[in-house]
Amino acid sequence: RLAPAHERPGDRELAAAISELRLIKDALEIEELRAVTASTRRAFEDVIRSFGRASSEREVEGLFNLRARVEGNDVGYGTIAASGANACILHWTRNDGPLREGDLLLLDAGVEGHALYTADITRTLPLSGRFSPAQRELYELVWRAQQAALEAVRPGNDFMEPNRRAQRVLAEGLVALGILQGSADEALRDEHQFHKRYTLHNVSHMLGLDVHDCARAREEVYRYGPLQPGMVLTVEPGLYFQLDDLTVPERYRGIGIRIEDDVLVTEHGHEN
Ligand code: GLY
Ligand code: MN
Ligand code: MN
Repeated sequence: RLAPAHERPGDRELAAAISELRLIKDALEIEELRAVTASTRRAFEDVIRSFGRASSEREVEGLFNLRARVEGNDVGYGTIAASGANACILHWTRNDGPLREGDLLLLDAGVEGHALYTADITRTLPLSGRFSPAQRELYELVWRAQQAALEAVRPGNDFMEPNRRAQRVLAEGLVALGILQGSADEALRDEHQFHKRYTLHNVSHMLGLDVHDCARAREEVYRYGPLQPGMVLTVEPGLYFQLDDLTVPERYRGIGIRIEDDVLVTEHGHEN
């Protein structure tokens, strides 16, 4: 079997070079990304206005994707419309579940504009308009993790620093909730990473023409490289408690929460 083009020697170097050229966005690219995030916001508002009358994840997908087709080229990736415990499945794109009052809806979606740049935004929203106490506790923990990560998005930090900040807040929160035994420091040790059972993924990737932009860049310039003005990345901590996870108090089981924003690194910090 022939290796895919980007895996062949020579082609791999070309793919890496092109990915690395895309790490810093120019003014035109930033303008495109601003436009698609604004359009994505309007599509989220379309979905929110349907709460109370929409009855299925399919309808949420349809509403979001309609705005994407009207204002842009299409969606940048398959819309994730995950209600209730479906939110605990990363990349839930079947979108064939019901919307039930009292459940949360995790909507991860992005409008792709005519120049093919895409947004990548997630909100986790109570379908009834109000969080239950358990939902609110977890939502606020993820929100605090996102705030901590956002504060670290600035030149001088490396790409992984926002992730480290968010994972620490989440690990400390999991200890406070009685879900992680022992200390956050112990859980966070490289050889342990106990919190990952519930956080599942890191909090950032580059964004641009691809939703996971620059993915072929060498690790030393992307994953282990410095944040620089003009980079655009997501900040997206999450917590996911599977329905059948007996290590989690029953009141939290079946709740999945992610909050994802798209952030431009500026001279002295960032712009959300
Ligand atoms: N929507 C895919 C991601 O957040 O990476
Ligand atoms: Mn993302
Ligand atoms: Mn996303």
